[in-house]
Amino acid sequence: MPRAHITLDKQAVIAPVRRRTFGSFVEHLGRCVYTGIYEPEHPSANEDGFRMDVVDLVRELGSTTIRYPGGNFVSGFRWEDSVGPREKRPVRRDLAWHSLESNQVGLDEFARWLKLTDSELMLAVNVATRGILPALDLLEYANHPSGTALSDLRVANGTPEPHDVCIWCLGNEMDGPWQTGFMTAEDYGKVAARTAAAMKMADKELELVVCGSSGSGMPTFGDWERTVLEHSYEHVDYISCHAYYQVHDGDLGSFLASAIDMDYFIDTVVATADHVGYKKRSSKKIGVSFDEWNVWYLKEHQESQEVNDEWRHAPRQLEDVYTVADAVVVGNLLMTLLKRSDRVASASLAQLVNVIAPIMTEPGGPAWRQTTFYPFSITSRLAAGEVIRPLIEAPTYATARHGEASVIDAVATVDEDRAAVFLVNRDLAQAAQITVDVRSLGSARVIEAVTLADADVYAKNTLAEPQRVVPNANLSAMLVDGVLSIELPPVSWTAIALR
Ligand code: AHR
Repeated sequence: MPRAHITLDKQAVIAPVRRRTFGSFVEHLGRCVYTGIYEPEHPSANEDGFRMDVVDLVRELGSTTIRYPGGNFVSGFRWEDSVGPREKRPVRRDLAWHSLESNQVGLDEFARWLKLTDSELMLAVNVATRGILPALDLLEYANHPSGTALSDLRVANGTPEPHDVCIWCLGNEMDGPWQTGFMTAEDYGKVAARTAAAMKMADKELELVVCGSSGSGMPTFGDWERTVLEHSYEHVDYISCHAYYQVHDGDLGSFLASAIDMDYFIDTVVATADHVGYKKRSSKKIGVSFDEWNVWYLKEHQESQEVNDEWRHAPRQLEDVYTVADAVVVGNLLMTLLKRSDRVASASLAQLVNVIAPIMTEPGGPAWRQTTFYPFSITSRLAAGEVIRPLIEAPTYATARHGEASVIDAVATVDEDRAAVFLVNRDLAQAAQITVDVRSLGSARVIEAVTLADADVYAKNTLAEPQRVVPNANLSAMLVDGVLSIELPPVSWTAIALR
């Protein structure tokens, strides 16, 4: 049985836990909005048409900041279509996902939904196929209190209070040839700089996210970040990172170590941003907005017939059904985001409902939790105070994609009167025996220890069997004389709460 020893030193603080690390993403894509969060005919719908069974699950998930309305969708979006009387809103073609957009949910409705879920809005503007003025118009509509044409329009549309959106994305994946209106780094850097400068003329407190590469595998990765920031450094606050992981050719060992890639990705983007900052003799540091991350069986999606020639409203798209192994990877990626809280200012699990999502719904039917729901919700609930870098002594194994990987990964958070330790065991076959030296925390006791694992690492939750996979109490957890011991099953994610 592999053994590992972890030492927690409460002085080894990385950064405060940032609530925005637990963000998510709602895109007008597939059934994320329509029959996902919004379904007026559903028995649980409220007066706005929002499914309250989904609201309850989103609250339980503990997601914080929600990116909206895209994604690739935003690059063909006219925000004006989605406000005002619903019966007058146009139906448009969405080229990004080859579907029809009814505009029945727009900014004002979505802001009301965010209140129900106690979440913050992260709003994306279309810089791909529109200009600076529509971005400024949206800002005026969303944030200006009243007394101007567009703020008064919002008031007339039934929203007297401004939405006060703080964090804004300047487009989406602008390097991707699949993006409507994609650009070169030179062109986008200039557009982003001008749009950001204009938005900050309206409100210098805004927090602005410039697009980084749409993935570290892009041929222009690195150069893209450098060029874009050379143009926009002074005007923006964060640069985006997007990463999706999946099992390739059945190589579960590499997949389980995906967090190594995410960590390296963050390092590279931070180094590039700092390089530009040093060249500009700037004392300002650019943060990372990891505003799309998840497991996504993208290769299978690209090879599938999901997107065909028909123009349909809310088709079933990207409805990945997640396994136990996927949940372990999601839990581990979230641990990495926590560990990089020194530079990762915000992150968004992509996405929230139905579309590569922790929550699934059936039209007219139930809503349920995917396997990936659990590590996210439990981490969001338990992580508090400061992130602590644990010292991990564990065996390693060879992976084809990420080199030598530790069998065990861990992170901890420490608050005044509580602490939490998050762990993964990446071993495919063996349980691992872990000891954690928690003496630096003072006297402590275990108040909760839960593990997500299954004899079948490919087990899933489905409409027919929505509770097939749930986390279970880990009864092996014991704390004696400042040393916590616990057994972690193979391919598992675990959280331990201490008081
Ligand atoms: O999250 C799904 C899609 O992935 C987003 O629309 C896009 O930004 C990314 O390519």
